[in-house]
Amino acid sequence: MDFSIKAYDTKNPILSAKTGCVAVAVYENKKLSAAASALDQHGDISAALKSGDISGKAGSTLLLRGVAGITAARVLLVGMGSADAVSEKNFASAVHATLKCFGQLGSNDAIIAFPMTDVKGRDQAWAIGCIVTAAHEAQFRTDGQKSRKDPERSGVKKLTLAADFVDARTRQSLAQAQAIARGMDLTKELGNLSANVCTPTYLANTARKLAKDYKFDVEILERKQLEALKMCSFLSVSAGSEEPPKFIVLKHMGGKKSDAPVVLVGKGITFDTGGISLKAGPGMDEMKYDMCGAASVLGTFRAIGEMGLAMNVVGIIAACENMPSGRATKPGDIVTSMAGLTIEVLNTDAEGRLVLCDALTYAERFNPAAVVDIATLTGACIVALGHHNSGLFARDDDAGNHLAQELLDAGKQAGDTAWRLPIGELYNDQLKSNFADLGNIGSPGGASCTAAAFLENFTRSYAWAHLDIAGTAWKSGGAKGATGRPVALLSNFLLNRA
Ligand code: BES
Ligand code: MN
Ligand code: ZN
Repeated sequence: MDFSIKAYDTKNPILSAKTGCVAVAVYENKKLSAAASALDQHGDISAALKSGDISGKAGSTLLLRGVAGITAARVLLVGMGSADAVSEKNFASAVHATLKCFGQLGSNDAIIAFPMTDVKGRDQAWAIGCIVTAAHEAQFRTDGQKSRKDPERSGVKKLTLAADFVDARTRQSLAQAQAIARGMDLTKELGNLSANVCTPTYLANTARKLAKDYKFDVEILERKQLEALKMCSFLSVSAGSEEPPKFIVLKHMGGKKSDAPVVLVGKGITFDTGGISLKAGPGMDEMKYDMCGAASVLGTFRAIGEMGLAMNVVGIIAACENMPSGRATKPGDIVTSMAGLTIEVLNTDAEGRLVLCDALTYAERFNPAAVVDIATLTGACIVALGHHNSGLFARDDDAGNHLAQELLDAGKQAGDTAWRLPIGELYNDQLKSNFADLGNIGSPGGASCTAAAFLENFTRSYAWAHLDIAGTAWKSGGAKGATGRPVALLSNFLLNRA
């Protein structure tokens, strides 16, 4: 989709815009938005409203052709709910309904002229982001691995956003929204790819390609180097797999050389069978999504590369498969992590923390300003929060609380929300082992919290937060597919810091 933004005013009125379609808002009480009134030269639009053909409820639509006195070929009336206060939710449903109609339109180009500055508690930049994200979502294809491609989509390819005003910040908002949407597209593509294609090697090659496209530094550490670094916890997860593990390090040095970087750490299990603690059969295909933390790091890097973010960011991905085999790690095996802490692997299906702990130790060498890890870590997180919020964990001290607040705020800003859950000594106590420094699972209850508490042991030298995206990274059922979350949260978090 090709986007542009333009202010229509008295010198350049919307009624003389040459376009296939203008989408304008109408309200529940039969009130017209300003743009709708501007197009209502001979009363065609008010007449359509009076006829009752459109309710004005958020997301209702009515397509008019040949509206008198204007240049546009069509006008799409879109319900925006109550005129008193345009809610975020109503604006978003109006946008979705509009893009659905645009997808079936016999026109190549269109204008969205919505009240972008009227959304309660939000600004024009948010509205731009909402439209751009929805347009990408509507265009996203999942037929990459089909031999018979889905039919080429007709509909709108060139979208102009009619803004109340266009200044430098407006243009920047549009550019940022497009960068984030492109990042999310990559995250979704990687997530949806089957695990026989999207292997650790494939993730490494994707990182190499990103580095080439956006001039990042990239380093891929191979098994030998990981052994030399004593990443035996990470390697214990990879032990049962024929696919070689890859440890990926990406660097975007957009800030001053001396500035401490933000480090993003992604869980990259390209398939999680559970290992010897084998998972149940039904739905196991969805464990191809167990690399969505890694994919969100790569997607966020694409976004910051597109934006040329003026800040230092390091991305670390620990990528491998979790498979059962004669060489696989067994329940009860004890491994020594890079940090020197020994771990009793009581359940080989609690593998995410085993790869992340070594990646978190590796992060120390960057003297980070903050470290955020992103992982499809626990099924329990879905039980706790459903599919609406990612789980957010941080230490309950000044640095931890501050970082947590930044991430919560960024999530709200982006409509990619997280909710904070607890860690602390009591959860850490659940990880006690008779034979090693730590067990890799807790006593029953609070599995998301004990998983996070496990990670916390390896993060004491810097400000740290953990995002459990088990419930938010993909959708199951008929609409099965990766969501691109939490790329928007992470990108906004970085933008706010830059
Ligand atoms: N990748 C899974 C977590 C997961 C499961 C995410 C289902 C989304 C949907 C993780 O590696 C795992 O298996 N966790 C175990 C931990 C348990 C053994 C303590 C879980 O959640 O069951
Ligand atoms: Mn697992
Ligand atoms: Zn897993």
